[in-house]
Amino acid sequence: MLITFEGLDFCGKSTQVQLLENYFKKQNKKIIVIREPGGTQISEKIRKILLDRNHSEMKDETEVLLFSASRAQLVREVILPALKENYFVISDRFHDSSIAYQSFGRELNFDFVVQLQKFAIGEAIPAITFFIDIPVEEVAKRMSKVKHIELDRIETSRLDFYERVRKGYLYLAENEKRIKLIDGTLSIEEIHMQIISEIEKQLERN
Ligand code: TYD
Repeated sequence: MLITFEGLDFCGKSTQVQLLENYFKKQNKKIIVIREPGGTQISEKIRKILLDRNHSEMKDETEVLLFSASRAQLVREVILPALKENYFVISDRFHDSSIAYQSFGRELNFDFVVQLQKFAIGEAIPAITFFIDIPVEEVAKRMSKVKHIELDRIETSRLDFYERVRKGYLYLAENEKRIKLIDGTLSIEEIHMQIISEIEKQLERN
């Protein structure tokens, strides 16, 4: 089963990925955790190009193609073989990130970005996607609290960008049954319990 996590930067998804990983490990489940962009040698190199703060000249078209290239490699090299072996694959971000960030955020053509994602992910369609939703003011608050960490190139762009990205996620959550919207302002433990309950429901359905 492929499970993906989505949301704005600082929404807390990486913490939730970690908690879910521990949950599955305690049950001795076969599990692989991936972070996007990255996860293969080629994809990690692409990640470095994407997040390098010196690459301020990067064009939006280049950006969407690089994210998608990184993902296409990850799907075929890691995700599909793992799913064949009945692993649980958890990905911290996946194709919905490109639709939300590159199409809604960067305002690239929606139909094209969706088609490109279909091409990049092929058969690797998530069974369930958790969209951890926080308002943009909360992103700003959490950002300023961690000023001591350097923000990457994408995180330093303006907050109206995040408003558009959030709208994109809300649109996707409304239109796709696999996407579960979770209130990211709840406590870490509450969010974790909701995630477990959704996964249990999904497993019963399979
Ligand atoms: P990531 O390192 O996952 O950041 P975070 O831990 O904050 O989620 O992702 C880095 C940035 O890349 C993040 O700002 C979101 C952005 N991104 C896209 O714009 N499109 C994509 O397809 C993906 C996977 C990430």
